[in-house]
Amino acid sequence: MPIRFLKPGETHELRRTVLRPQQPVEEMEWSMDRAEGSFHVGFEEQGELVCIASFLKERNDRLRGWAQYRLRGMAVPPSHQRHGFGRRVLLFGLEHARHMKADLVWCNAREGAVTFYARAGFVAEGTPFAIEGIGLHQLMYLRL
Ligand SMILES: CC(C)(COP(=O)(O)OP(=O)(O)OC[C@H]1O[C@@H](n2cnc3c(N)ncnc32)[C@H](O)[C@@H]1OP(=O)(O)O)[C@@H](O)C(=O)NCCC(=O)NCCS
Repeated sequence: MPIRFLKPGETHELRRTVLRPQQPVEEMEWSMDRAEGSFHVGFEEQGELVCIASFLKERNDRLRGWAQYRLRGMAVPPSHQRHGFGRRVLLFGLEHARHMKADLVWCNAREGAVTFYARAGFVAEGTPFAIEGIGLHQLMYLRL
């Protein structure tokens, strides 16, 4: 099965190369990575990770629902983008979030990824905002 759950540390390399190339790999561990209920998913092709996503137990007060997951660190290397890996990993993670009785998944979508999330049914909340050093983001969510 090419899609599997990952240990938190397995996400670090792709987080850095795709999302945070300006930061050292030691900074790729995030605060909720190991929180109870958080989980990480990846797609492996010929032994190489080509997509990762993290579903972290983090609530956003701007959104209704108590059993929320924050989708974070969704990344596909440029060589493998637009081949459907992102969608497959996202759908797998959403299914598991449902299984975990979550009622909502939210993310701060990078400007360039808003359409990707919208294709999966996510809707925008509020107006875009800047995150220093990375660019414009849009809060988006999906009710499960
Ligand atoms: C955004 C990202 C995760 C999408 O993964 P992907 O494997 O390339 O996307 P998929 O091939 O599964 O695409 C699924 C759908 O979204 C659309 N899509 C994907 N990326 C898109 C983009 N950048 N712009 C517009 N549409 C996009 C696809 O066309 C496809 O649409 P369809 O429903 O018509 O088939 C990936 O491109 C990536 O890692 N980008 C760089 C890092 C990044 O921005 N991560 C998100 C941080 S919030």
